[in-house]
Amino acid sequence: MRILVTGGAGFIGSEYVRTLLGVPGGSAAGVPAVEPAQVTVLDALTYSGNLANLAPVADDPRLRFVQGDIRHPEVVDEAVAGHDVVVHFAAESHVDRSIAGAAPFVTTNVLGTQNLLDAALRHGVARFVHVSTDEVYGSIADGSWTEDWPLAPNSPYSASKAGSDLLALAYHRTHGLDVVVTRCSNNYGPYQYPEKVVPLFVTNLLDGHPVPLYGDGGNVRDWLHVHDHCRGIALVQHKGRAGEVYHIGGGTELTNKELTARLLDACDAGWDRVTPVADRKGHDRRYSLDITKISNELGYAPSITLDTGLADTVRWYRDNRAWWEPLKAANA
Ligand SMILES: NC(=O)c1ccc[n+]([C@@H]2O[C@H](COP(=O)([O-])OP(=O)(O)OC[C@H]3O[C@@H](n4cnc5c(N)ncnc54)[C@H](O)[C@@H]3O)[C@@H](O)[C@H]2O)c1
Repeated sequence: MRILVTGGAGFIGSEYVRTLLGVPGGSAAGVPAVEPAQVTVLDALTYSGNLANLAPVADDPRLRFVQGDIRHPEVVDEAVAGHDVVVHFAAESHVDRSIAGAAPFVTTNVLGTQNLLDAALRHGVARFVHVSTDEVYGSIADGSWTEDWPLAPNSPYSASKAGSDLLALAYHRTHGLDVVVTRCSNNYGPYQYPEKVVPLFVTNLLDGHPVPLYGDGGNVRDWLHVHDHCRGIALVQHKGRAGEVYHIGGGTELTNKELTARLLDACDAGWDRVTPVADRKGHDRRYSLDITKISNELGYAPSITLDTGLADTVRWYRDNRAWWEPLKAANA
């Protein structure tokens, strides 16, 4: 099986590639055998793409890297040709950046996905896995979203992801392309670009700097270790039903304040290091995914507890300064 992984030099995509090639960045086993003969990574290497994320598998003869932008149809066409499966991670992924400027979110997330879907159709790709997010649903006060919940995204990021998610499903319904969509909760783990809350807080705390806490700190997110996310995607790639959406969650909901308390604890720091900042514009209050479908149909269950996962993650950032220091220096 030849698999094209878009965005495979990013945080989650690179974990997926390491997992496919048998070098998981996380600590858990239990990934279904997908056994690729070839894994091609198509990645533009934007600010969040980093070849160092693929260093553990760089010498694997099954890995091929193509630097290319999914916004360019001819690049996409060439990259998709000859592949059986496309697993599509490439995206602009940071909500705050989408508030500062939405254009690359629309061109990469929506138009880039359309380019990939068209190329997948042209080249007879047998399975297209579209990696989406719980943010497409908006915000939920009580209870949890099921896969048939109406989409009501609130940020330019989530609106662009909802556009690409619906396009992928439309290519299944209209053209019969074998599409499966995953919507997952907030990921954390090694190799995450240090603008997202967990690596930002951990690296700031390790450096003795303050951490910024949005608003009243009461926004609730479900936390999922990146390795569990990739196990879920592998299950969906392997045996998800075409045209279906599957939630992948961690089953651990925390307010940002609770998450901050755990990170302070793990880094031996106190609340004096926390600086309250104005809330993010349009900040969704709570996300919550019902994962009954993927659990019942595909046997998915998160395997890494938040305590273990956060402790491992903090240790990874502590031990891998050479990975993140240049990234933070470039942004200083
Ligand atoms: N991080 C999360 O918590 C989370 C949660 C739910 C869903 N997701 C989704 O998972 C996917 C991966 O997220 P991530 O956190 O790994 O993001 P990331 O920002 O770490 O990685 C994105 C990758 O895509 C590449 N890329 C960006 N624009 C591109 C373009 N035009 N052409 C080719 N490559 C391009 C980047 O270079 C980078 O390697 C995204 O689709 C995101 O929406 C992420």
